Amino acid sequence: MGQPRIVLGVGGGIAAYKACELLRRFTESGHAVRVVPTASALRFVGAATWSALSGQPVATEVWEDVHEVPHVRLGQEADLVVIAPATADVLARAAGGRADDLLTNVLLTARCPVVFAPAMHTEMWEHPATVENVATLRRRGALVIEPAEGRLTGADTGRGRLPDPAEIFAFCRRVVARGAGAGARDLAGRHVVVSAGGTREPLDPVRYLGNHSSGKQGYALAATAAARGARVTLVAANTALPDPAGVRVVPVGTAEELGAAVRAAAAGADAVVMAAAVADFRPAETSARKIKKRDGEDPAPIALVRNPDVLAGLAADRSPGRVVAGFAAETDDVLANGRAKLARKGCDLLVVNRVGGGLGFGSDENEAVILDADGGETPVPRGPKEDLADRVWDAVARRWAAA
Ligand code: CTP
Repeated sequence: MGQPRIVLGVGGGIAAYKACELLRRFTESGHAVRVVPTASALRFVGAATWSALSGQPVATEVWEDVHEVPHVRLGQEADLVVIAPATADVLARAAGGRADDLLTNVLLTARCPVVFAPAMHTEMWEHPATVENVATLRRRGALVIEPAEGRLTGADTGRGRLPDPAEIFAFCRRVVARGAGAGARDLAGRHVVVSAGGTREPLDPVRYLGNHSSGKQGYALAATAAARGARVTLVAANTALPDPAGVRVVPVGTAEELGAAVRAAAAGADAVVMAAAVADFRPAETSARKIKKRDGEDPAPIALVRNPDVLAGLAADRSPGRVVAGFAAETDDVLANGRAKLARKGCDLLVVNRVGGGLGFGSDENEAVILDADGGETPVPRGPKEDLADRVWDAVARRWAAA
C-alpha cells in the first residue's frame, strides 16, 4: 500500500483535544490525514489546529471547495475513516444515515473500514438510544471501540472516556493492515475472553510467589481480536501494559481471582484463550502480618496447596461451539509434552513454545506450534507476538467453522 489515506472525523466533545495527538501519530508515521470536524467540534479545537497538524485544508460543511466534490471524494478515497471522539450525536446521525454535514456524507460514501471511538458521559453511553445506534453501526460492519472507564469531564467517573490516543492509533493501524476485504473483520459478532499476565500468590502483605509472565502475548491476542471485530474481555493478572483500545480489561491478582473472573466472563463467550501463567500452587496460609526472620532460627518451610486448573475446568464445562485454548511454555520435548498436555487438559487448542533463547517472557517476539485436538499442527515462525496471536485466532475460527 502507498501512503495510507485516513479521514479523521472529530465530534463535538471535550475529548476533541485528544484527537490532536491521534492526528500527530498518524502524520508522523506516514499517513495522509484529512480532518473533518463537526461544527461543534470546532468550538473545542479550531480549524487552524487541525489544518496545521495535518498539513491539509479542513472542512466541516459540504459547501466548501464544492468543485472538488469533497463530500463524495474523501470517503471514496479513504483507506480508513476514524471518528474520535464519536459523540452520541455523531453515532445517532451515522446510524440514521443522515447526510447533514461533511462528516456524515463521508460516512455514507466510505467503503473502507470505519472506526468509531465514542466518548461521552456514562448516562449517554448507556441510554437505550445510543445502545441501539451502536448495535446498528456494528451490524453494518463498523468497528465501535468500547469507551474506557475513568475520570470524565467534571468530577464524575465511569465508562465513557476516550481510550488512550496511542491505543486508538495502534487499533487503527491493525485495522488498516487487515484491509477492507470480506474476512478482514472475521471475528465480528463473537465474544472472546483472553487471560494474560502472571498470577501472584501472597505469602504475607509484602511477599508473593509469582512468575515472569509480562502479559504481552495475551495483550496481543486481545488487541488483534478487537481489530478483527470481536468483543473482547481481557482478564489481566499483574501486568504493566496499557489497556488496548476497545478491550474490556478486568484486573486480577491471584489464581483464584483469575479463575473466578475468567469463568464469569466466559458465560456466553464463543472462545476462551488462556495465555496467563497461572500458579499451580499457593501458600497453604497467608500471614496477615509480615513474616520476620529471627536470629538463630531456621526459616519455616512454606507449605503449598494446589490451585484449581482453570483451563481444564473450562474445557470440561464448555458449551457446544465454544473453543477453549491454552498455552504451554516448555523447556524440553516441546511437542510431545504439548500433545500430552492438550489431551490432559481436554482443550481444543494448545499453543506450545520453547522458553529460553531470548524468546517468550518479556520479549516482543514469539515462536510456537499451535496444536489442534484434531491432530493438526501449525508451526508459527519467530515473529511479533501479534503474528502468533493472529494465527491463534485463525485456528479458533477454523474450529468454529468445523463445529
Ligand atoms: N492453567 C490454568 N490453571 C492452572 C494452571 C495452568 O488454567 N492452575 C493454564 C494456563 O493458563 C495455560 C495452561 O494451563 O494455558 C498450561 O499451563 P502450564 O503451567 O504449562 O500447565 P501445567 O498443567 O501447570 O503443566 P506443568 O506440569 O508443565 O506445570
